[in-house]
Amino acid sequence: RPRVLSGIQPTADSFHLGNFLGALRQWVALQEDFDTFYFIADLHAITVEQDPKVLRERTLVSAAQLVAAGVDPARSTIFVQSQVPAHAQASWVLQCLTGFGEARRMTQFKDKSAKGGEGAASVGLFTYPILQAADILLYRPQYVPVGEDQRQHLELTRDLANRFNHRYKKTFRPPEPYILEATAKIYDLQIPEKQMSKSIGGQGCVWVLDEPKVLAKKFRSAVTDSDTTIRFDREAKPGVSNLLTIHSAMSGEKVEALEASFEGRGYGDLKAEVADVVLQVLDPLRERTLELLDDRSELERILADGAERAGAVAEATLRDVYDRVGFLPAS
Ligand code: TYM
Repeated sequence: RPRVLSGIQPTADSFHLGNFLGALRQWVALQEDFDTFYFIADLHAITVEQDPKVLRERTLVSAAQLVAAGVDPARSTIFVQSQVPAHAQASWVLQCLTGFGEARRMTQFKDKSAKGGEGAASVGLFTYPILQAADILLYRPQYVPVGEDQRQHLELTRDLANRFNHRYKKTFRPPEPYILEATAKIYDLQIPEKQMSKSIGGQGCVWVLDEPKVLAKKFRSAVTDSDTTIRFDREAKPGVSNLLTIHSAMSGEKVEALEASFEGRGYGDLKAEVADVVLQVLDPLRERTLELLDDRSELERILADGAERAGAVAEATLRDVYDRVGFLPAS
C-alpha cells in the first residue's frame, strides 16, 4: 500500500478546529487505503522557546487527541519526532543542499520572525522547512495531508527530493500535497481574514478540548458583518462564509443547501446551529481524550511501538542517503 505521512506540532494545550478540519480528519480517512505515518513534531516545537515540562505534557496530550480523533494505532504508525533520530540526521544532509536564498523565501519564517525581528529568531526557525522535508522524504510517502499554509513547505520538499535524486542517485520520492479545498484554510472567528492559529489564540480560536459552554460562546460572539443575508462570499462576507464552511464540514451538508435552509433567518440562528454541529463532533473527542489521558502508560506504549516502526523505515532510507553522499559506512 502506498504511504501517507503527516505531522503536527505540540505547541498548545489542544489542537484547534483548523488543525482538525484542515488535517486530522484527512489523516483518519486516509487510513482506509494507505499505510499511514503520523507524528508529533516536537523538534519543530523548540524552534521557539518552550517550557520543558509543558512540552512533555503537550506531546502526550497531542498523542491522546490523535487517537481520540480516530487515528488508530493498529492501522497507523503514531510516533514522536524526537524519538526517531534519523529525522535530525537527514535534515543536516538536506540543509547542505538548500540555498540560503531559497530558505529565506519561505513565507512562514518571514511571518513568524516578523514580531521580534529576524535577528531575534532562532536559526532553527529558519531551517524549520528543511527539517520538515527530512520528516517527509525519509518515508517516501505518496501524499502528505496538510492545510493550505503548508503548501510552500511541500514545494520545497519536492525540490529537495528532485535535487538529491539528480545530484546523487534516485533515492527520494517527490511527495504530493493532499489539500482538500473546502477546509484547507479555516479562519479565526474574531478576525475572519486571518487563518485560525495557535499563536493568535483568544476568542476567535476554537480548541478541540474547549468545554462545551466555552465553545458555544466563541461561536455566539463570532464576527460577521452588517448585512443580514446568509450566503457564501469569501471576499464580501468572510465571517459568514467561514461559519458556513465549518457547518458544512461538520454536518456534511452542502454550502448551497445550508444557504437555502437559512434563507430568511438571522445570524444568531446560524451561529447557534454551527456551535451545535461542531459540538456533536468535538464533545465526544474531548471526552475520549480525557479518558485516554487517565492511562498514560497505554499512550506511552503506543508511542514506543510507533517509534520503533517509524525508526525502521526512516533508518533504512537514511542509510541509503549517507551512502549516496559518500559517508564511510559505520560498522
Ligand atoms: P501545525 O502544527 O501548525 O498544523 C497542523 C496541521 O493543521 C493545519 N492547519 C490548518 N488547516 C486549516 N485551517 C487552519 N486554520 C489551519 N491551521 C493549521 C496545518 O496545515 C497542518 O497540516 N510544519 C507543520 C508540522 C510538520 C509537518 C511535517 C507536516 C512538521 N513536519 C511533515 C507535514 C509533514 C506545522 O507546523 O503544522
